Amino acid sequence: MIRTFVLLVLLCLVGVFQVESHEVQSVMLGDSVTLDSGVSEVQQTNNIEWRFDTSRIAYTISGNPKYDDERFKDRLKLERNGLLTINDTRTTDTGVYKFRTIINNKESTKTISVTVYAPVPVPVITSVISQCSSSSESSSSPTCVLQCSVMDVFRVNLSWYKGISVLSSISVSDLSISLSLPLKVEYQDNNSYRCVINNPVSNQTTHVCITDLCRLCTDDVSFSESTEAVIRLVVTALMGLAAVTAFIVLVYDIRLRRVELERHQTHSAGSDTLKQE
Ligand SMILES: *[C@@H]1O[C@H](CO)[C@@H](O)[C@H](O)[C@H]1NC(C)=O
Ligand SMILES: *[C@@H]1O[C@H](CO)[C@@H](O)[C@H](O)[C@H]1NC(C)=O
Ligand SMILES: *[C@@H]1O[C@H](CO)[C@@H](O)[C@H](O)[C@H]1NC(C)=O
Ligand SMILES: *[C@@H]1O[C@H](CO)[C@@H](O)[C@H](O)[C@H]1NC(C)=O
Repeated sequence: MIRTFVLLVLLCLVGVFQVESHEVQSVMLGDSVTLDSGVSEVQQTNNIEWRFDTSRIAYTISGNPKYDDERFKDRLKLERNGLLTINDTRTTDTGVYKFRTIINNKESTKTISVTVYAPVPVPVITSVISQCSSSSESSSSPTCVLQCSVMDVFRVNLSWYKGISVLSSISVSDLSISLSLPLKVEYQDNNSYRCVINNPVSNQTTHVCITDLCRLCTDDVSFSESTEAVIRLVVTALMGLAAVTAFIVLVYDIRLRRVELERHQTHSAGSDTLKQE
């Protein structure tokens, strides 16, 4: 009894760890993809089937193709030799496809992992900190921190390049998220940096124009100067406030005068009438 149980467990383990030829295919969203069963000896009389995850999506009966799954409605084409074409791919088509046939009482299977990738967006580069060598750090050369960002990406690599070498890289696999990758550059470096986003089917590159992005570096911003800037801002605000107050007073004054003038005119008009009578 226990022996049988152990034997069963062992068989299960062997089954689980059995190495299958596992092919990987990448496809661009919306394109079509053809899955090759790799079984050349399929005859018209052999029934074949393709499964996606657990459900049967396409099979043949006496050589005639049949399609089962609503998710792939009007998008599949199964040929007699086992080639399966999926049209107009969607991200939800990502998964494991399994081919199966029985020829001469011998089962043949083939597993293909398909990943549908969206075209990558163009990375956006911004400068987050622009800082020049202050007197306290005289040895350091002017630097600028750039940020390369992409929104809502899924299964991509985002990298900073200088020439042909990769400076830093991050990848995102399963979640659809926004990515940012910072890079500290030296102000003197010219347009030799670029940010590249790629997945197996597409890539986009944005080149850095340091002279544009790190322009602030020409103004040496130090603590005392920023304090001064704050003071200047406060003074400007106060002056603005004073100006607004002055304007209100002026308007009030003009209105008052106008009222007085009108009163005066009415008065003189009244006296005129009096005179005429
Ligand atoms: C798939 O697309 C091709 C080319 O656009 C077309 O010829 C074929 O009929 C389509 N197959 C299906 C099943 O819609
Ligand atoms: C940057 O460009 C300037 C002139 O455009 C050039 O003199 C300098 O050598 C360049 N520096 C680098 C690091 O390429
Ligand atoms: C990201 O780069 C790594 C290492 O180069 C690679 O193995 C992986 O497939 C890449 N991922 C994507 C989505 O391109
Ligand atoms: C980027 O895509 C182009 C085609 O659009 C391709 O020729 C090139 O090899 C790709 N580069 C990388 C690094 O994937």
